[in-house]
Amino acid sequence: MTVTKQTAENLQQQMQTLIEDGALIRRALDHGGAYLSGTFDRQVAPTKEAVTDLDRFREALPEHSGDAFDIVDQLHAIGSPGTMAQIGGRFFGLVNGGTVPAGLAARILADTWDQNAVLHAISPTNAVLEEVCQAWLCDLLGLPEKTVAGFVSGTSMAIVCGLAAARWRLCERAGYDINSGGLAGAPKLRIVTSRHAHSTVLKAVVLLGFGTDCIEWVDVDTQGRLLTTALPELDQNTILILQAGNVNSGSFDPLRKACEQAKSAGAWVHIDGAFGLWAAACQRLRHLTDGIELADSWSVDGHKTLNTPYDSGISLCADAEAMVKALQNSGAYIMYSEHRDGMLYTPEMSRRARAVDLWATLKYLGRSGVDQMVGSFHDRATQFGQELKTAGFEVVADIVFNQVMIRVGDDAATKSFVRRVQASGEAWVGSSMWFGEPVIRISVCSWATTQHDVSRTVKAFCDARAAS
Ligand SMILES: Cc1ncc(COP(=O)(O)O)c(C=O)c1O
Repeated sequence: MTVTKQTAENLQQQMQTLIEDGALIRRALDHGGAYLSGTFDRQVAPTKEAVTDLDRFREALPEHSGDAFDIVDQLHAIGSPGTMAQIGGRFFGLVNGGTVPAGLAARILADTWDQNAVLHAISPTNAVLEEVCQAWLCDLLGLPEKTVAGFVSGTSMAIVCGLAAARWRLCERAGYDINSGGLAGAPKLRIVTSRHAHSTVLKAVVLLGFGTDCIEWVDVDTQGRLLTTALPELDQNTILILQAGNVNSGSFDPLRKACEQAKSAGAWVHIDGAFGLWAAACQRLRHLTDGIELADSWSVDGHKTLNTPYDSGISLCADAEAMVKALQNSGAYIMYSEHRDGMLYTPEMSRRARAVDLWATLKYLGRSGVDQMVGSFHDRATQFGQELKTAGFEVVADIVFNQVMIRVGDDAATKSFVRRVQASGEAWVGSSMWFGEPVIRISVCSWATTQHDVSRTVKAFCDARAAS
């Protein structure tokens, strides 16, 4: 379909046909289907040639409209080979969830709806699914019934929301309206967190204007857990930020003890549980999250341990008023309703209908499916630990959840080991620092990872070591 003389009218007509006859969407789906059919056997990292080929995208902005089918074909031909096989079972970088098929399919359908999740009046379907997801999440994670959820881009943003709610409430208790008065003149709030807090906690502290200099750092034990004995005296001006799931070791802060100490002092507690909060939904691992219900706010991802498609973070807060006031937004044209209006609980106004794929993932897995999937991550991580030890690798910390760390030597040795594993295409892992020493991190976070994937990855590690 080529446009010879472009006018606004024929462009509009052309797009109308492309939307209505469905052929273009089917073409995209065909490519998606072809991409997915080889997913579990594909080499994990893209080849060097595929990455070089991405240069074909670097062209001047077209002067005229193009052929939509050609564009989708080009995207598949050049773009698909340049992707990392994150949906497969041998990607162990960052803390990357796989994708539950029902969630992926729901996401695709929801994308055809192109809903703005802002208000019930604008997207009733999304608004109702948000309400359902909020209730299901509180149930699964064992959080107070009154907890409200905001569906945001990821945990980075969910932490910002939690700390903004904390700031609003602590200032309000001190008789100060932070929304009108701002930071200058506000009561001085204290941020207390562990030396192993995730970098996005620091990002939130910076974004909200607290500044990292105000952080009172708390020492950790050998597993990276906050030491409650090292907590400073807490008070009603304190925001204590705890961690359910250390990004390197997977360890959990002693949540109950720390929450009890903080609550008796009138402090606000936020728990960053980006991937670890899901331990609460697994009977065998629930002990790790003991006491989470005592906190005031939590941050967690769908796109990590729950394996929803990407761009699915959840901010949870037991103090609905604080959350809504902190994220306030108003305007004569905003049609609030008596129903749940999603934008009250998020920093963004317009956003995609995130609850759709979250709902489909939860509905498909159900309570027992979530339990089994989260438990399987722990089983595969434990298998990694055993096979790596047998193969002579040094496993650095206790494997309590889904994270495994090994040491292979100094900085240079670690970097070249990681490069060799990545280049093998057999698996993908990254490195980190653990108490000042370089380590390799393995994060088991996809339902797709089988026992065979673990053994195959350990073999790739042995080959990479032998090639050094
Ligand atoms: C403990 C922890 N907090 C926060 C984050 C940031 O989450 P996101 O990438 O979804 O913003 C991560 C990411 O791995 C994490 O592990």
